Amino acid sequence: MTRGLFPVGGPVAKEDLVGREDFIVSLVNRLLEGQSVMLAGPRRIGKTSLAHEVLRRLKEKGAYTTAVDFFRFSGKRDFAVSLIDACLENRTGINKTLNILRDRAKALAGGAKFAIKLRDLEISFGFPEKKSDDELLDYALRLPGILAGRDDKLMVVMFDEFQDAPRVTDAEIFKRMRAHFQVQKGAAYLFLGSKEGMMQTLFSGRKEAFYRFAAMLPIPGIAEDDWVPYITQKFASRNILVDDNVVKEIVHLSGGHPQDTMFLCSEVYYTLLETGDNTLTHHHVRLGYNRAVLALAPIFDEVLDDLSARSQVRRVLHQLALGKNVYQEGIHPNKVKRAIDHLINRAVIKKTARGSYVFVEPMFQRYILQHFQ
Ligand SMILES: Nc1ncnc2c1ncn2[C@@H]1O[C@H](COP(=O)(O)OP(=O)(O)O)[C@@H](O)[C@H]1O
Ligand SMILES: [Mg+2]
Repeated sequence: MTRGLFPVGGPVAKEDLVGREDFIVSLVNRLLEGQSVMLAGPRRIGKTSLAHEVLRRLKEKGAYTTAVDFFRFSGKRDFAVSLIDACLENRTGINKTLNILRDRAKALAGGAKFAIKLRDLEISFGFPEKKSDDELLDYALRLPGILAGRDDKLMVVMFDEFQDAPRVTDAEIFKRMRAHFQVQKGAAYLFLGSKEGMMQTLFSGRKEAFYRFAAMLPIPGIAEDDWVPYITQKFASRNILVDDNVVKEIVHLSGGHPQDTMFLCSEVYYTLLETGDNTLTHHHVRLGYNRAVLALAPIFDEVLDDLSARSQVRRVLHQLALGKNVYQEGIHPNKVKRAIDHLINRAVIKKTARGSYVFVEPMFQRYILQHFQ
């Protein structure tokens, strides 16, 4: 978990989760009905934070919940063991259940309690040391369904950075998962991924393993009306006076982008601390903004370097930042289209409902305008 008045970097705690309330409620309801859901969106948009809140509420309603993140695993066995542990934690309340089982095998006396809590599962399972990676993986993938059945619970499993599963395990993982998941009663899945293109293909390609397995829902933005009271109350908790207009300027500058808004608030807050003032003004916001841009510059530059390797991409990017038409006489429309697709793929821009393109990070758009000539 992250620290600081305005947490930045990892999943946020419940009290720092701003907005998206209707969406959270709808996710909870769908999963409670056993419907699996896929959410794809660029990094730092708030997927993991959102998903943890959804799981928290499901747990409150009595469901079993399991969360695993493919970003963290070193290989097949690591993933399998982590998934088993996360599933079993619902029963035991202990996050390294398999270790306890192993220790119990070594010193039988101490683990009597676990033996009772796990006996029916252990019988079908035996001890993990004796299993091959693939056997362990199959068991792990079956376990959500087994637990749901044995304990008469709904089991909701969240996979984070799901598109990385083949890298962590093997190329057959999706097929293998689908084979297990589709026969499970009482288990629902929440798939998150930051590579939108890959996620879309995996869940909507006719020949893909997860074709039509989950509802694919767009992640809504966080509304200004949700940011303003949150930011106001945060500053108030440090006895800092703010008025709506100044707070709205912050949200306007960041475009309401989840992490950029938090980060900008954070930089504005540190600016205030340094000046010793206790009333937030436009002046602080501007200073904080400059500091935020300075801190983000290396990241922005790297993205720009990368994108600018293709001449059309660079030109299209600049035109989009200016809000101008990207098509141009003398340049084949297909080339422009490819540049746009590339920018969408890299999560720099996204298509709006009205068919135009907007920057995922408005701060990046402003940065381009300042640094391109
Ligand atoms: N709902 C939210 N409310 C406030 N800040 C958020 C929210 N979602 C994300 N953030 C900000 O973005 C950062 C990254 O969030 P995270 O959930 O890890 O995103 P993702 O999983 O999409 O990469 C958080 O540390 C926080 O600063
Ligand atoms: Mg995440």
